[in-house]
Amino acid sequence: MARAVVVYRSRTGVTRRYAEEISSLLRTKGVMTQLVSVGECDMATLAGADFLFLGCWTSGLFVIGQHPDEPWLAFVRDMPRLDGSGVGPKVALFTTYKLLTGSQFPRMRAALAGKVPAPELELKSRDGRLSPRDDEAVELFIS
Ligand SMILES: Cc1cc2nc3c(=O)[nH]c(=O)nc-3n(C[C@H](O)[C@H](O)[C@H](O)COP(=O)(O)O)c2cc1C
Repeated sequence: MARAVVVYRSRTGVTRRYAEEISSLLRTKGVMTQLVSVGECDMATLAGADFLFLGCWTSGLFVIGQHPDEPWLAFVRDMPRLDGSGVGPKVALFTTYKLLTGSQFPRMRAALAGKVPAPELELKSRDGRLSPRDDEAVELFIS
């Protein structure tokens, strides 16, 4: 059975809801899924996962300077390299925002460079709900 870990950083709960929706969908599709916040994540659970979903709310000046916040960046700094022997998890990024995600995904990718294989999916939501389009994208990602 495929295994996924969904790790999120949320300040007020919207990104947590999105992470919960992603996890529910993965479980519906038969993927064994662990859902944890960056603060709760035991790095040992990441090893050997088939899919890794990493999410953080969008912080910035609304029209410019979007970036993941410090607790998410600290989590990534503490993360072990997961692509050591050339095989690593398939990685997806997700975020929630109000106006523009702008540089959020590029900044998340830059922080993760060298730690995990290049992310193959980006999901974003204003309200923490998974859209039918997200649903399709996740299905394709795990297939
Ligand atoms: C200090 C601050 C900065 C924010 N900057 C942006 C931004 O640059 N672009 C944007 O679209 N939303 C921005 N937002 C909105 C949040 O990304 C959005 O409300 C998000 O869903 C919050 O997620 P959370 O409930 O998981 O903390 C900002 C919110 C705060 C509090």
